[in-house]
Amino acid sequence: MSRYLVTSALIYANGHVHLGHLAGAYLPADIYVRFLRMCEEDVIYICGTDEHGVPITIKAEQMGITPGELVDRFYKIIKRDFERFGMSFDNFSRTEIPEHYKFTQEVFLNLLEKGYIVEKSMKQFYCDECSRFLPDRYVGGTCPECGSANARGDQCEDCGSWLDALDLLKPVCEICGSTPTPQETTHWFLRLDEFQEWLEGWLGAHDDWKNNVLNYCRGWLGDGLKGRAITRDLDWGVPVPLPDASGKVLYVWFEALLGYVSSTMELFAKRGEPEGWKDYWLDPETRLVQFIGKDNIVFHAIIEPSVLHGLGDYVLPWNIPSNEFLNIRGEKFSTSRGTAIWLKDYLAHFPPDPMRYALAINAPENRDTDFSWDEFRQRNNELADVFGNFVNRIMKFTHKTFDGRVPEPAGEEQEERELMLSAAAARDEMEELLRNFKIKAACLRVMDLAREGNRYFDQSQPWKTAKTDRDKCATTIYYSIQLADSLRILFAPFIPFTCEKTGRMLGSSSLLWKDAGGENIPHGRQLGEPEILLEKLSKGFEEVMQKEDGKPETADSGTEVSAIKETVSYDDFMKIDMRVGIVKEVNDIEGADKLFRLMVDMGDHTRQLVAGMKPFYSKEELIDRKVVVLVNLQPVKIMGVKSNGMVLASDDGKGGVYLLQPGSDACQGNGIH
Ligand code: MF3
Ligand code: ZN
Repeated sequence: MSRYLVTSALIYANGHVHLGHLAGAYLPADIYVRFLRMCEEDVIYICGTDEHGVPITIKAEQMGITPGELVDRFYKIIKRDFERFGMSFDNFSRTEIPEHYKFTQEVFLNLLEKGYIVEKSMKQFYCDECSRFLPDRYVGGTCPECGSANARGDQCEDCGSWLDALDLLKPVCEICGSTPTPQETTHWFLRLDEFQEWLEGWLGAHDDWKNNVLNYCRGWLGDGLKGRAITRDLDWGVPVPLPDASGKVLYVWFEALLGYVSSTMELFAKRGEPEGWKDYWLDPETRLVQFIGKDNIVFHAIIEPSVLHGLGDYVLPWNIPSNEFLNIRGEKFSTSRGTAIWLKDYLAHFPPDPMRYALAINAPENRDTDFSWDEFRQRNNELADVFGNFVNRIMKFTHKTFDGRVPEPAGEEQEERELMLSAAAARDEMEELLRNFKIKAACLRVMDLAREGNRYFDQSQPWKTAKTDRDKCATTIYYSIQLADSLRILFAPFIPFTCEKTGRMLGSSSLLWKDAGGENIPHGRQLGEPEILLEKLSKGFEEVMQKEDGKPETADSGTEVSAIKETVSYDDFMKIDMRVGIVKEVNDIEGADKLFRLMVDMGDHTRQLVAGMKPFYSKEELIDRKVVVLVNLQPVKIMGVKSNGMVLASDDGKGGVYLLQPGSDACQGNGIH
């Protein structure tokens, strides 16, 4: 048994999750982790939001809110959407937590003391109109590498080169459009040149890694590493922990990479073992596996190892499975360019599993792949036909012919032996593939096994033998049920929700990889009621989905706005009594998956309210939260529970609900006019 520390790139808290994110750094990692857990490996899966840097401040400016409000809002949305998609993180943290500030500042000071970080004066673009320095994406211009006009001060949007802002041709200030000029300023530099030799040796020992990672690193090392500024002039981020550094923060990339460590610290703090993170990060035997998209290679394969090596004692990446991009109609998914399919829009129409399957089997492992709704429909239907249908046929047959009880086999023939051997072979081949990050091939393999199951069922013709040879029929059904259970296990990392349902029907919930290929379901067991596992989609649904593609995000000003309702008189409005309350208790309501029963402190009394907040907020997020309550609404009973008023929220018309938030100086009982 080995100890695994698996990470997915911390996602920027400046927008919604889209399918490109999922296909690159998230879904493959989740499949890998679920598989390792089923092999009873010691594994933790770490992620979180990346909440600093220019991508955040620019987005907040566009939306007219503070960076803090932006990241609070998106942290919640992202966390919720990942959960709904079945991402099984052990911890989903954020870089705004105090532990993260503390840790990153310590790391900075540690490397400064060792001489790996040095202070230097440098030239940087300054905008006279805006009276400020222009870090990273605040400068735009023409890329010196590829000539694209879409280059920014940190990276070219088109060729992906990591740039030095001063090399941009035709620089412009992205805030006001004027031409900035280079001015002298002071920053702290990470001396990557100090690590060149060590990196060459270390990377040289990992020649089994994916080619995209190795080629990228060879290119970098070939050019010779130089010092890189790791501080910025911004007022949002982790402050540089030195007396003479006011107005300077740590560069988001330097600091975000350390978020994997602080998220692990948070996980163990929550578990009540504050030292537990060290077992993972300070043990050289730990297998640190970092799933990323290809645009993140340099940070994870060059910068992060240098920092960790500079600190000493820290584990280094054991592998960096970096994926290519998922494109939509040949173009890169891009939040800024509005070419994206949002996870929340998908989930408003469909369950998670068909998309998990479609993205796994079409994973951009070695080259960019293209997403289309037409392909999605075909994949959905293939899964329904092959796996859904297999389970469905057996369940129905067992209920019809054997009263829902697993029949006793009359003895196995060659076909049955072959079927079970085939399941065991699939298990072993898939294990080999998954351990080598070949998610797509593993997914194809389990589909082949499901097809074999259907073939076995068809060739054995149990609908005929039910009348002519009952023993033979019982044998067919018994072994078909065993295969269904193997498929439940082998499919589980890919489509966990469907496999859970299958488990309910078969009466088995244990998920051990080694059980696949075995006879796990004893004869005589009463099976559950047949449930439809997967629904097929007919042609034409694409049009509905395509309308949503690339639409501006919910929280943007581009949101569709409904028509204004009929005018009401001032007197009518004044009849409405709204007050500030504080949520004190949050309870589930039996049988209601969207509702919470809230007890809200209104200052002079406590009242009970029923609110449809469960899909959007966790109990912890609601407790002690200030809300706006309409207190003179006629009480109603919802699911048998009395609701004495209404909690007010804004609604984006697309399924998103956001509680109205009274300011920090509002107290319970205050009226609202
Ligand atoms: N937020 C970055 C992105 O989405 C990834 C950061 S990975 C980290 O591209 F390790 F730096 F956090
Ligand atoms: Zn300007």
